[in-house]
Amino acid sequence: MAIRTILTQGDPALTKRCHTVTRFDGKLADLLDDLKETLAEAGGVGLAAPQVGIIRRAVIVMPDPEKDEMIELINPEILAQEGEEDGLEGCLSIPGMWGYVKRPTWVKVRAQDRDGNWFETEGSGLAARCFCHELEHLEGHTYDEHVDRLYTAEEVDAMMEEEEQEKPKRGRRRKR
Ligand code: NI
Repeated sequence: MAIRTILTQGDPALTKRCHTVTRFDGKLADLLDDLKETLAEAGGVGLAAPQVGIIRRAVIVMPDPEKDEMIELINPEILAQEGEEDGLEGCLSIPGMWGYVKRPTWVKVRAQDRDGNWFETEGSGLAARCFCHELEHLEGHTYDEHVDRLYTAEEVDAMMEEEEQEKPKRGRRRKR
């Protein structure tokens, strides 16, 4: 296992439509192990093969950041989705920035495991967001294409604080 370099915006690998994985061999297993180690080191919740320069349809998703479980998805596709929710999103390839993106509130995904067996999984909330974000990488797209603007960590913190301060104010207004 090895930690691979995460490519950042501007690298052509991030804009390519990825190839279908056809060989479920030791090389794929090595890639998946490296992706997991790289993701853990970076402290993210998802990582796609093109982010380390491999133009193949393979991603790692952490559906619940509270747990350490990582799901490997090879040749994934969204089978069904429901709802829509605006939420804050970031990407290891766009470090230090965040943006609000509309994503489904629930998705059902079909994918292959490292041995080539097909399986289905589903996720809601942050997990659904993560599935959509990572699958988009395989099409050569990144979340910033959906946003009006990106925010820095300081701006996000300021927005959160403002929200916290507004809550009691709104409450008081309602009481009148
Ligand atoms: Ni990303």
